[in-house]
Amino acid sequence: MFTGSSSYKKLLSLKKKLKPSLKKWFDDDKERAASLSVATDRMIYDFSRQLINDGVLNALMELAEDSKLKDKIKSMFSGKKINVTENRAVLHTALRNLSDRPVIVDGKDVMPDVNAVLAKIKKFSDEVSSGVRRGATGKEFKNILAIGIGGSYLGPEYLAEACKPYAKPGMNLIFVANVDGTDFVRKTRGIYADETLVIVISKTFTTAETMKNAETAKQWVIKNVGSSPEVIRKHFIAVSTAKEKVEAFGIDPDNMFGFWDWVGGRFSATSAVGAAPLSLYIGFDNFHKILEGANWLDEHFLNQPLESNIPVIAGLIDIWNINFMGYNTRAILPYSQAWHRYPAHCQQVEMESNGKSVDMDGKPVKFDTGEVVFGEPGTNGQHSFYQLLHQGTQVIPCDFIGFKKPQYALTDNARLTTDNSLSHHEELMTNFFAQPDALAFGKADKYLPKNFPGDRPSNVFLLNEQGPFEAGVLLALVEHRTAVKGFIWNINSFDQFGVELGKVLGVDMRRRIALYKKDPSDPKVFEGLNSSTAVLLKKFLKD
Ligand code: F6P
Repeated sequence: MFTGSSSYKKLLSLKKKLKPSLKKWFDDDKERAASLSVATDRMIYDFSRQLINDGVLNALMELAEDSKLKDKIKSMFSGKKINVTENRAVLHTALRNLSDRPVIVDGKDVMPDVNAVLAKIKKFSDEVSSGVRRGATGKEFKNILAIGIGGSYLGPEYLAEACKPYAKPGMNLIFVANVDGTDFVRKTRGIYADETLVIVISKTFTTAETMKNAETAKQWVIKNVGSSPEVIRKHFIAVSTAKEKVEAFGIDPDNMFGFWDWVGGRFSATSAVGAAPLSLYIGFDNFHKILEGANWLDEHFLNQPLESNIPVIAGLIDIWNINFMGYNTRAILPYSQAWHRYPAHCQQVEMESNGKSVDMDGKPVKFDTGEVVFGEPGTNGQHSFYQLLHQGTQVIPCDFIGFKKPQYALTDNARLTTDNSLSHHEELMTNFFAQPDALAFGKADKYLPKNFPGDRPSNVFLLNEQGPFEAGVLLALVEHRTAVKGFIWNINSFDQFGVELGKVLGVDMRRRIALYKKDPSDPKVFEGLNSSTAVLLKKFLKD
């Protein structure tokens, strides 16, 4: 379908004829930036430094039409079961549907349940913050210890970091994800269990890392506060879809915040997965602003024509870079320390969603899907990996994300201590403006080590503030941009069978290590292992 379409063939031939020269293109067409950008009241998306011309853009729009992109977007929002391998709807947009529009799954409007969970979280977080709900010794909660991994961690952590200035005074939100005990020890060092509310976040309530950390947290609370079921009920809450397992753990089902099978893990940050920890941390009203931001982009994605639709254009340009230019890696570069966990969140959303090799009919695809996504905040990355971006043999398209306003101005202090009178934010933004130009236009030098080739593509996103609303906008942007690519490639972006084999083999290893601990001479410990794993496991167990 993708490679068979006439637009695909047109794009191939346009690629063959293309002679990229961003310098010339900008010199020849003074309107280039205006015609290759989308300006809204919330953000400017400038894609004029991409290696595209009007012909390519038009052909990409034809590709969207050929792929029935608009219909697929509508199907997603309408609750159709587009996650065919798991027979599930894909409705993270319903989680922030702030209109009265009903969203029907299996003949039932899901919105009353969505709103009921939000109301329950608001009540609970208000009670914690007003001191009505306290720990078992009567102390107010000062720490939220959020235990989860993957989609039950990365989105909420990105949002929490971005929204840190909005935190309730004296409240800490601490994430434990890695099963490496170092994570738990470091994160709980210096905090008191009797002032800590533990929130176990797991859609399935079976994920090995999360369950191990949850058990360790339980022991920590028992040791430091007390072992009665009442202590566990007061200090533990859960976000999950698996009520029985939550109850079996000892968590009061009244203190469980649910979500639904139509919310995928990596798309769950606006469900209770994000709502519970973030409402406790920044307050429900600020969390609601995240929903408003995500909803703003949802409405834009659903209603804006393809030609001025930000996630659609960004996704189509990714396809141009991956499938036609052969650029399979993308750097995400937020010029904001507050956004430092955004690249990690995008990495999961993009790579777990689109790392697929079969299409919707289960047939192998004959083109590249997915892309390697990585990133660091600017300007730290400039002093690390940008050398390769500027002069390496590989071309890595970049997303520059910047904000008009800083979270902390530091103007007076900066004026006293620097000689150029720029504030911290102005200093940061000089780099934000300079780097895309350095990549795009380069600098010719006969001395080759100092030659910058230029014509290295980038997107520039400029938003207003660094607050919860913008955090929600950018959350929805990566979700929808990822979906656009999946829709056009005709792959299922919403399952993740690729993570299962490792988990299955992990179960086998767990069994072997347990056997060894019972009886080191048991031959079954190493039986059937390949020679490499056998040697490594022996080294681990025996030396
Ligand atoms: O292993 C990947 C994954 O299944 C992700 O898709 C998911 O977000 C994560 O594990 C955590 O799963 P759970 O929320 O069920 O603990």
